Amino acid sequence: MKKIFITREIPSIAVKLLKEKKFHTEVYKEDRPIPQNLLKDKVINADGIISLLTDKIDKEIISSMQKCKVIANYAVGYNNIDITAASEKGIIVTNTPDVLTDSTADLAMTLALACARRVTEGEKLMRAKKFNGWKPKLLLGVELKGKTFGIIGAGRIGEAAARRAYAFGCRIVYSSRSRNVFMEENLDAKKISLDKLLKESDFVSIHLPLTDKTYHLLDKEKLSHLKQTAILINTARGEIVDEKELIKILKKKKIFAAGFDVYEGEPEVNPDLLELDNVVLLPHVGSATEDARNKMAKLAAENVIAVLEGKKALTGVN
Ligand code: DGY
Repeated sequence: MKKIFITREIPSIAVKLLKEKKFHTEVYKEDRPIPQNLLKDKVINADGIISLLTDKIDKEIISSMQKCKVIANYAVGYNNIDITAASEKGIIVTNTPDVLTDSTADLAMTLALACARRVTEGEKLMRAKKFNGWKPKLLLGVELKGKTFGIIGAGRIGEAAARRAYAFGCRIVYSSRSRNVFMEENLDAKKISLDKLLKESDFVSIHLPLTDKTYHLLDKEKLSHLKQTAILINTARGEIVDEKELIKILKKKKIFAAGFDVYEGEPEVNPDLLELDNVVLLPHVGSATEDARNKMAKLAAENVIAVLEGKKALTGVN
């Protein structure tokens, strides 16, 4: 009987599908990431694993796998997995693209709008019972119509964010390794260099995977190109931005605001961020809708099943 280990409770559709195939499924049920030493024990005899982005599937964990054929990451990003080590061992790694695209793009727009309309400050004021009537200058924000919306990384989620921004009346520019013809033809999007995008955009939204090449892509020098009125949104990975440098420019009000769904050193959050009014902070909930999470669980299980039945993974990454 094939043994599947799932590192945390995910929507029940995953276990249901695996059980239908008569796979023995074990789920780590604590509401926190599995400790590394326990993970190492659990993967020894597993034929397949469903992992989360909070699990560090490094060389050491992979080398302790004796039978594993597939690691199905319950996320589109897979920077938590040592892909080289997995490939060397002949282990297929899969992710969950497409099914979380709309949820994540919705959240990027949520952050863009929340920053533009100073939602956090308004909420704070209301909860502090400090609303004492309509004022002509209370919490003046920014309108989206006619503004330039810069998309860094024009893959699925970047494109979905661009479609939303276009519907709000924004002009779309993007920087990406390859052309996005759909965006150019349907959203009148212009492909420009990253520097130009940072200099021209009123909104900048990051939609890149975290790799050696994208780590601190937005460093001190790149961040210095942003306009004083710019709003920066990150729903991708915290490490793509040099967070300390971003905090410095937010403190000096060198940009208008930033919306964070992801952080460097997550789940730790730099305490300085908590003191700032010109930020909106969310707890990595890009794909956190019932719709997306159910589809992610189904896709992860289907990937495990496909590989263990000797078929091609649906969404393999190696
Ligand atoms: C992913 O799937 O990589 C997202 O960050 C989850 O929200």
